[in-house]
Amino acid sequence: MQKAIRKAVLPVAGLGTRFLPATKAVPKEMMTVVDRPALQYVVDEARAAGIEHIVFVTGRGKAVIEDHFDVAYELEATLEARSKTEALEVLKRDLPVAGSVSFTRQQAPLGLGHAVWCARDIIGPEPFAVLLPDMLMKHHTPCLKSMVDAYERTGGNVLSLEECEPAMTAQYGIVALGATVQEDVFEVTGMVEKPKPAAAPSNLFISGRYILQPEIFDLLETQEKGAGGEIQLTDAMLRLLKGSPFYGVRFRGTTYDTGTKLGFLKANLAYALDREDIHGNIRAELQSVLAES
Ligand code: G1P
Repeated sequence: MQKAIRKAVLPVAGLGTRFLPATKAVPKEMMTVVDRPALQYVVDEARAAGIEHIVFVTGRGKAVIEDHFDVAYELEATLEARSKTEALEVLKRDLPVAGSVSFTRQQAPLGLGHAVWCARDIIGPEPFAVLLPDMLMKHHTPCLKSMVDAYERTGGNVLSLEECEPAMTAQYGIVALGATVQEDVFEVTGMVEKPKPAAAPSNLFISGRYILQPEIFDLLETQEKGAGGEIQLTDAMLRLLKGSPFYGVRFRGTTYDTGTKLGFLKANLAYALDREDIHGNIRAELQSVLAES
C-alpha cells in the first residue's frame, strides 16, 4: 500500500504578463472560462482525484483567489432573500470544506521549483500532487485521477506526459523514457528543462501534473538556478530520480494551455460546447461570427 496522496500544491503566483492589461488587477487564474474562474476547473480535477487539502502558493495582488474560496456572506444572504436557489447551489458546490485550503506566498518570482518549496511546511512528510493551473486538462477520467491510480501500483513519483511538436521542446520539461510498465505508464529515466530540439531526449513533455515524494523539498532547498535563471522543479526532480523512481502517465485527453491567448480562447469554446445549457447556441453563434468575419 502506498501512502495516499491527500494534498496538492497549486502555484498561482505568476504575474500573467502575457495577458496584460487584463491581468493588471485580476489574477490570470481568475479569468473566466465560460462562467467559472480557470482555477476552479483545476481545483475540481484535484478533488476528483481524492485530494483533501489544497495549498495555493500565491503572491502580491492575488488576494481575490482567497476570497473566491471563502463564503461570501452578503452575496449569499442576498441570493437567499431573492430565492436565487440555482446561483446559491453553484456557490455551495464550489466552496471548499472549512480548513481544507491553505495559502502561502512566494515572496519573489524565483521559479516553479521555489514556488513548490514554499509549500514544504504545509505539506509535511508525505507524498503530494502539484497541478499547474495554466493547464486545463479535459478528459472523462481527470488527469490527476489516472496518475493517482498508476501511483497506487507503482509508488515513487509520477508525471503527466504528452507529445509536443519536436520543434517546441524548448518550451517544456522533456523526459527520456525507459520500460513500459503498463498501457500508457512508463518508467522515466531522465528529464531536462526547456532543451533545444537537438538536445531533447524525446518529444514527450511534462504537461503540468506531478505526484512527488516529500524528499523533493530538501533538494529544492539547495537547487541552483537553471533554465531562464529560475529554480526549476525539473532540475530538482532529476536529482531525486537518482534515489526515487519516476513514472510517466501519458494523458489521452485534451490540454488547453490557458497561459497563451489561443489556448485560453480554445478552452472557452471547448468547455462551452460541453455545457448542455449553452452548447447548441454556441455552434450557431460561432458560425455566424465566422460568416461575418
Ligand atoms: C513549467 C515546467 C515545465 C512544464 C511546463 C508545462 O514550465 O517547468 O517542465 O513542461 O510548466 O506547462 P513553464 O510553463 O512554467 O515555463
